[in-house]
Amino acid sequence: MFIRFPVLGVRNGSTVALGEKDHDHQQAQTQTQTQTQTGGTAGGPDNHQAIASYWGIQPSKVTKEDGTEWRWNCFRPWETYKADLSIDLKKHHAPTTFLDKLAYWTVKSLRYPTDLFFQRRYGCRAMMLETVAAVPGMVGGMLLHCKSLRRFEQSGGWIKVLLEEAENERMHLMTFMEVAKPKWYERALVFTVQGVFFNAYFLAYLISPKTAHRAVGYLEEEAIHSYTEFLKELDKGNIENVAAPAIAIDYWHLPPDATLRDVVIVVRADEAHHRDVNHFASDIHCQGHELKEAPAPLGYH
Ligand SMILES: [Fe+2]
Ligand SMILES: [Fe+2]
Repeated sequence: MFIRFPVLGVRNGSTVALGEKDHDHQQAQTQTQTQTQTGGTAGGPDNHQAIASYWGIQPSKVTKEDGTEWRWNCFRPWETYKADLSIDLKKHHAPTTFLDKLAYWTVKSLRYPTDLFFQRRYGCRAMMLETVAAVPGMVGGMLLHCKSLRRFEQSGGWIKVLLEEAENERMHLMTFMEVAKPKWYERALVFTVQGVFFNAYFLAYLISPKTAHRAVGYLEEEAIHSYTEFLKELDKGNIENVAAPAIAIDYWHLPPDATLRDVVIVVRADEAHHRDVNHFASDIHCQGHELKEAPAPLGYH
């Protein structure tokens, strides 16, 4: 159970600031700044820059079960979870239809240039691939959102599921950012790849959502393979098994002495869950249904 303390009186204090410069206002302003400082900032625990809020917007102060202050604004305790490591990592959807085969071979063909570029630099590879992996959920979620608005109908929870996936992938990226810093040309590559991939996936999802979800299912199968290779390199000692980043410890409820190996294991389990969700979504379409007809697997980690 996590506790949220609402910050009271801030709106009043800020509104007073409009025209009065009395002692009370200064006190309220100081209070606002102090609360902002103690509440941390979006970037994480190390950035303590204070921002005075004229609009009375203040995040509620959150504490952990042990009473210590929650350090992250980029995610909150109720978004964290313990990864389900019992998931079958070897599950594979055998492509049978033409579109399934197209999705499968498109993903497979993308693997060769990726292997060539990164070779055995799995930390860097993971970080770069997460910048791509976080796109489909956002695009699919956005398109389902627009469809829900256009048709005046519910989404069956699928918008949230896809946005949750995008958020989860972005957390993978934030985690790997802590252990592998991108070089300038890698940043440039991400910029280019995002420009191409976002638009390609957007079009693919408009034309054939079942193929788009199937392709993501296969992309996730490849991600599981990459993380398994990452683990092998860690076990061989070719990659140093450094301490797990603090962000990962809090996000996946890892023990304080967790290592990079533990992080890779939970991330790989996440990818297996994404694989299942996307193949399931594609299967729904293949069976002639719409996503909203099948309850979305919300909170499936
Ligand atoms: Fe990921
Ligand atoms: Fe994934």
